[in-house]
Amino acid sequence: MILLGFLQIFLLLVAPTVAQTATQNGDFSAGKCGEVYTQSHKPFQLNPAPYSDCTWEIIRPANETVRLIFSVLNLNPLAECSQENVTVSDGNGKVLGVLCPDSPRIDVYESVGGLSVRVFTDPNSHSRVLYLFYNSFLTGSAPVPCGGNLRGLSGNITSPNYPGRHPDFTFCVWHLETPKNTKIELSFSEIFVEIDPLCRFDFIAVYDGPSTSAPLLDILCGRTTATLETSSNSVTLMLSTDYANSYFGFSTSYTALPSSNTSSLSCAGDAMTAIISPSYLASLGYSAHELTLINPSCGPISSNPVAFIIPYQACGTVKKVEDNLISYTNTISASLATGLITRRKQIQIIVTCELDGNTTVEIMYLTRDNVIEEHRDTGRYDVGLSFFKSDDFATPETQSPYKVDLNQTLFLQATLNFPDPDLTVFTESCFASADPSFQDPTYDLIKQGCVKDDTYHNYPSGSGFARFSFSAFKFLRADISVYLKCRVIICDVNDKMSRCNQGCITRQRRDLGSSKWKANAVVGPIRLKPHTKNEVSESISEKRDEESLTNHSNFYILGILVLVVNVLILSFVILRYSRKQPAGYRYHPLATQ
Ligand SMILES: *[C@@H]1O[C@H](CO)[C@@H](O)[C@H](O)[C@H]1NC(C)=O
Ligand SMILES: *[C@@H]1O[C@H](CO)[C@@H](O)[C@H](O)[C@H]1NC(C)=O
Ligand SMILES: *[C@@H]1O[C@H](CO)[C@@H](O)[C@H](O)[C@H]1NC(C)=O
Ligand SMILES: *[C@@H]1O[C@H](CO)[C@@H](O)[C@H](O)[C@H]1NC(C)=O
Ligand SMILES: *[C@@H]1O[C@H](CO)[C@@H](O)[C@H](O)[C@H]1NC(C)=O
Ligand SMILES: *[C@@H]1O[C@H](CO)[C@@H](O)[C@H](O)[C@H]1NC(C)=O
Repeated sequence: MILLGFLQIFLLLVAPTVAQTATQNGDFSAGKCGEVYTQSHKPFQLNPAPYSDCTWEIIRPANETVRLIFSVLNLNPLAECSQENVTVSDGNGKVLGVLCPDSPRIDVYESVGGLSVRVFTDPNSHSRVLYLFYNSFLTGSAPVPCGGNLRGLSGNITSPNYPGRHPDFTFCVWHLETPKNTKIELSFSEIFVEIDPLCRFDFIAVYDGPSTSAPLLDILCGRTTATLETSSNSVTLMLSTDYANSYFGFSTSYTALPSSNTSSLSCAGDAMTAIISPSYLASLGYSAHELTLINPSCGPISSNPVAFIIPYQACGTVKKVEDNLISYTNTISASLATGLITRRKQIQIIVTCELDGNTTVEIMYLTRDNVIEEHRDTGRYDVGLSFFKSDDFATPETQSPYKVDLNQTLFLQATLNFPDPDLTVFTESCFASADPSFQDPTYDLIKQGCVKDDTYHNYPSGSGFARFSFSAFKFLRADISVYLKCRVIICDVNDKMSRCNQGCITRQRRDLGSSKWKANAVVGPIRLKPHTKNEVSESISEKRDEESLTNHSNFYILGILVLVVNVLILSFVILRYSRKQPAGYRYHPLATQ
């Protein structure tokens, strides 16, 4: 009897209160604590009581992926995450993520074959609300193909099938990126997704950054319009819908705006992009079509935004090489008035991309008799270092990890990603380390242009690249990894006095000025293949290493893992905008098996 009473209290404490609300959206009751769901899709609204520890499981066939979407997460805001949280795990119990009281309300998890959701709450009462929804689909075939990466100055995005009704289970993520030094205006001309005060069922989430881990800018649903402005040049949109009440979805246009209120400039790897605020232009009494570059046949590519794409080698762009500093300048101005007099202010916008060794410097200023605005921004050269299969440098080595033998000849090329064919690259220093941070003793292959390793060999360099080779080695009494770091110098080929033409310099000369033109690039680690033939002792020590590494699935022992890990000093700023594939966006870990 006492035992029974105790059990009852225990159940009261542990079992969460479960909402059994039926709405327009159908039945989304959550079953009892501990229940297992096998249907293909289901919504839940959970109202966990204090002191809950409750797990729900979703089990689907092994060839299906379950996508779980949280659209409301209202836990006790005063609780600690260690006391109150929602833990999402895959079918094998591997934790995919933990939602805390202060986590963003929207979150998405995917897992093959199933998922489990475990809710812990602390002893305090609070009207907790969780709304979640899952659906499942054959792995590799999303129910509605949509979303993507968009770049450029402006464009439109619509939901699938717009202006028709969006399909059920639509889940799309769009990443948008405009040029550096701009921000994005999103103008939703129509939003019509399922109406709900909390946007629980169907919603558009707008993130102020390049991924869904960026801060939420807004959550939109119902029938409305909206205009949003981001803080930087990237934004992420997510559209998620369930299986009932499909409407038209949404239509939005996006436009790059200068991040300052007048104009902005970005020096990308393929061209300079200048953007002028239309209202600023209007305040000076001009419209976009009156403006041209130095070459009057080059006008703006769009009037909203007012944008100029300025090639480095056309449209009158002037290149200057001075003290190892290379700059490209053009001018945006209004064509001369044809009448006798004018009452308008003269407008002249001078645009300069300065490539300062290590960095690119972006300078833009407007003159109106006097300089009224100047932007200065710095960027860096993009130099990639990669391995090639042979001395014809025709095929890059893509194998990763790249497994090599000791004493095998390795071919490397440093490539400058910049469109000016008159720039050349010189490998000034290259050193190796067993340590990725290059703290350990290092070994020089070439230093200040002087070859230090007998196997090092330079190949003739050409427009935008430098090539060399050396024989694979390993550090004694050290890890099997080898990392390489090279410093490259960028010169104008016509500058006969440049550092690139000076080869080995043993003493530091004062007047080199070439420090402006340095860039570092790193590859590694290099790992050696297991050995069979003559290297008995070698293979013993390496065998041990192999065992210690078998847990790291990707760290293939004794091979060369060659990755262009990082271009340290020359980062990607120049190329950032021109690259077709954006860098990896971060999501929650999506379990794959
Ligand atoms: C997926 O798995 C289920 C159950 O194992 C099976 O019935 C179904 O035919 C499979 N579908 C495909 C396309 O392989
Ligand atoms: C979630 O809460 C439970 C129960 O209080 C706790 O044991 C667990 O460590 C918490 N998880 C995290 C990641 O804090
Ligand atoms: C976007 O849509 C508008 C009309 O809604 C159209 O005028 C414009 O050309 C479209 N822009 C692009 C880049 O497709
Ligand atoms: C730019 O905008 C800021 C506020 O947004 C304003 O204070 C400033 O005066 C503006 N500058 C110009 C040149 O219009
Ligand atoms: C490159 O620039 C960074 C700062 O952006 C500076 O710390 C570094 O010393 C520079 N490297 C060279 C080689 O000039
Ligand atoms: C390395 O290879 C070169 C030829 O590629 C050969 O001459 C040399 O003897 C080899 N060194 C060792 C230690 O095997």
